Amino acid sequence: MTELAATFQYEAVAAAYQYRPPYPDEVFDRLEGLIGDEPRRVLDIGAGEGAIARPLAPRVEWVDAIDFSQRMVDAGRRRPGGDRPNLSWQVSPIETADLDGPYALVTAGASIHWMPWAETFARIVPHLTPKAQLVVIEHGAVDEPWLGELLPILERHSRKKNHDPSFSVVDAIRDRGLLELTGTARTARVTYRQSVADYIEKLHSTSSLARDLMTADEAVAFDQSVEQTLRPYAHDGVLDLSIEAQLSWGRPIQQPGPADTAAPERSA
Ligand SMILES: C[S@@+](CC[C@H](N)C(=O)[O-])C[C@H]1O[C@@H](n2cnc3c(N)ncnc32)[C@H](O)[C@@H]1O
Repeated sequence: MTELAATFQYEAVAAAYQYRPPYPDEVFDRLEGLIGDEPRRVLDIGAGEGAIARPLAPRVEWVDAIDFSQRMVDAGRRRPGGDRPNLSWQVSPIETADLDGPYALVTAGASIHWMPWAETFARIVPHLTPKAQLVVIEHGAVDEPWLGELLPILERHSRKKNHDPSFSVVDAIRDRGLLELTGTARTARVTYRQSVADYIEKLHSTSSLARDLMTADEAVAFDQSVEQTLRPYAHDGVLDLSIEAQLSWGRPIQQPGPADTAAPERSA
């Protein structure tokens, strides 16, 4: 595991995660629409604290939420909908997870770029229904008027150097022959109001800006710089954000390799 991936094991990162804006409701309408088989069982890989798994569970038969961070899973269990009877959490790397398909949908929200793709796909493909789709979902604020001023601060403190904004994880997976891409969509934008303090906490939920990777002095300096930058844009300390999600889906492909050691399938 890289140092950045390891940040998801930290208590402070898991605690800061609640300040990420929720995915727009349209994401869940679209995910439901992509289920073309019974049983309506979903596998959520790199589930974190369940930003996808928890709102999706009431709409489907079952969700298996897999994440290798105990702290993220603990946070997810405590959040609204985290204790639904049809939502099952498992702390494990997806590559070796104990899967209980067949799944009609696999969701990966802001997570697949962390995973070893060949091993991950070798693990999940044998557990899919005939029409099952893998959906990669990303979301975030767009058209932030303060971004030009904020970026130099983020770059100064980020632990992720050489960030390439043109990199597309979906293109990379497809180019490796692991995904037969069949569709993409962008949701309508939704307004989300967030205090400057919560916005700063949200920044600390990202692996590259985790508090655990900063000294206490650096974290204070970072928070002050961001606060000063955002204050003129806030009304009564609150920012208006415009949130958009991007979905890309298709059929995951298992490349020829060592035999999959998946557990025997439960009957559908
Ligand atoms: C940025 S978070 C996204 C969480 C959630 N899906 C969401 O949309 O908010 C990425 C998550 O992927 C998990 N993760 C990374 N690599 C993993 C792997 N190989 N197996 C399982 N989980 C992994 C991390 O622990 C982290 O919780």
